[in-house]
Amino acid sequence: MNLGPFELPNVAGVGVAVARPVGLFVAPMAGVTDRPFRVLCRRLGAHHAVSEMVTSRRELWTSLKTSRRADHAGEPGPVAVQIAGVDPAEMADAARYNVDRGAQIVDINMGCPAKKVCNAWAGSALMRDEDLAVRIVEAVVAACAPRGVPVTLKMRTGWCARHRNALAIARRAEAAGVALLAIHGRTREQGYGGSAEYETIAAVKAALRIPVVANGDIDSPAKARDVLVRTGADALMIGRAALGRPWIFGDIAHFLATGTLRPPPTVAQVRSWLVAHLHDHYALYGEHTGVRSARKHIGWAVAALPGGEAFRQRMNRIETCDAQLRAVGDWFDELAARHHLLPLHATAAANDGLAERCA
Ligand SMILES: Cc1cc2nc3c(=O)[nH]c(=O)nc-3n(C[C@H](O)[C@H](O)[C@H](O)COP(=O)(O)O)c2cc1C
Repeated sequence: MNLGPFELPNVAGVGVAVARPVGLFVAPMAGVTDRPFRVLCRRLGAHHAVSEMVTSRRELWTSLKTSRRADHAGEPGPVAVQIAGVDPAEMADAARYNVDRGAQIVDINMGCPAKKVCNAWAGSALMRDEDLAVRIVEAVVAACAPRGVPVTLKMRTGWCARHRNALAIARRAEAAGVALLAIHGRTREQGYGGSAEYETIAAVKAALRIPVVANGDIDSPAKARDVLVRTGADALMIGRAALGRPWIFGDIAHFLATGTLRPPPTVAQVRSWLVAHLHDHYALYGEHTGVRSARKHIGWAVAALPGGEAFRQRMNRIETCDAQLRAVGDWFDELAARHHLLPLHATAAANDGLAERCA
């Protein structure tokens, strides 16, 4: 798939009813898809990763949180940064600022329903004002085009069930120069409730020439195939199902390429991926924040495993990176003594309640 000067990798979907190349993207998730997590997902099969959203509000750019989000050191390219805001000129400035700091692709957030974002009419709330949404797209494209930086857009199916205007916005965004569109199959009003629908995504895909990415509730290789068949999308974007299970990208790629499911990873593999992720995580956040913010990743990694909940509670009381690493290593070593392959007993429970963080 071409995105401006970049050719994104993909999997040749020849095995299961999808005879076309398909990209697998990790969804942007604030508080989750920082650089260490994006690197991990790419290593385990994701073809593209977009950063957590960076605000367009200039006064916040130098905050520790925003500068960490804009830190792309060592990230495999192309580096894609998501920006969120409500003012076309500010959004154009934010695009330029991030391009100066290494962004090679700029993604506009019209998908996140977070209250903090939507009170200011940003994120998916922008879908209520089509003209403003398009002015933002035009301003960001005008800022990025002279630098050869493609602009992508992430949106929902509409504001609410009566205003499913994704198609109208998508057409205007394509005309304004957007290079790729990702759609989460829910309205803003739905938050994360109910189920994603894929008919609107299919309609957008049929109407546009640029690549369209389907997103929402894709949590298994079979679901990935179904969504590809139902939408005709060029790529899939996966969010919550990758938490604690970042190898899902490889699972889906294997299934699309061969038509068969591969076995779960070994306990030893998962241990080594998690330990490497923790080292990267501590290096970005430092001891005090790192040990705390790593807890959620460890919690997701063990949630579907026997004894995982008891370990999570114990691990949450550990206060240093060294002790946390040791506890994780020992726990997985004990699990490896009993199991060669990862003994998953539940998958969905791991992500319960997560959506509220962005709702
Ligand atoms: C914790 C969390 C944070 C999120 N943050 C963002 C964000 O910063 N930008 C964005 O466009 N979408 C954000 N989303 C929405 C996801 O990118 C994705 O569209 C949504 O989770 C649906 O995909 P899934 O069913 O595969 O999780 C977030 C979702 C979650 C669960």
